Amino acid sequence: MKLVLMGLPGAGKGTQAEKIVAKYNIPHISTGDMFRAAIKNGTELGLKAKSFMDSGNLVPDDVTNGIVRECLAEDDAKDGFLLDGFPRTVEQAEELEKILSDLGTKLDAVINIQVNKDSLMTRLTGRWICPTCGKTYHEVFNPPKQAGICDVDGAKLYQREDDKAETVENRLNVNIKQTQPLLDFYGEKGTLFAVNGEQDIDLVFEDVNKILTSF
Ligand code: AP5
Ligand code: MG
Repeated sequence: MKLVLMGLPGAGKGTQAEKIVAKYNIPHISTGDMFRAAIKNGTELGLKAKSFMDSGNLVPDDVTNGIVRECLAEDDAKDGFLLDGFPRTVEQAEELEKILSDLGTKLDAVINIQVNKDSLMTRLTGRWICPTCGKTYHEVFNPPKQAGICDVDGAKLYQREDDKAETVENRLNVNIKQTQPLLDFYGEKGTLFAVNGEQDIDLVFEDVNKILTSF
């Protein structure tokens, strides 16, 4: 199964991705997670990405497209993958078409998780993440059993640098601007599915699953 998960910042891409990859046993390719790991490890990629991410802007395509091409050429992506947060622009979508065509394959579905802008600020500013396993929580909507501690491995949870209110505003605006042309691109290809992301996490997953079992 070859999938793209779309949605504005905070729509629930990472939350649903966690469930999809566990059920369908495919690799989770999140450009945002890869950039954050690179920043943490102080690599050249991290240095290139950091200033763009900290301000809520997009990392330039020449940096982003290359890492996606590498990931999709890996053996574990041969039979399926879930792209989370890529593509974000029509230029990236066109590059993805090229990458997949070079690999002799194509996408099965693009799932867009729809959430109103008003809900997103609350979701992002209340998000907490495990530094070791990456599990995502929300202090109100999806709290850990013990506040500030990961249920899975007991690590101390942290908040993302770009979840500060002033950065979130720009991140949302940057992404909103890019979204409609991308939806038009995939709408014309007939691979686009919309999911109501305003429901409880498990109900969103039920709807995602209905789509994934329909082909
Ligand atoms: P990235 O890491 O992809 O961030 P994003 O797109 O801003 O999305 P988020 O990860 O913030 O949100 P999400 O949709 O995963 O929501 P989550 O499941 O965590 O990218 C970060 C940056 O990297 C970009 O700004 C850019 O600089 C750069 N970048 C990445 N990809 C790029 C690309 N292709 N091109 C250029 N630059 C790129 O959920 C959010 C919160 O809500 C959590 O607390 C969760 O528990 C809660 N929640 C989830 N679902 C629900 C629900 N149904 N109800 C209630 N709460 C919910
Ligand atoms: Mg995410």
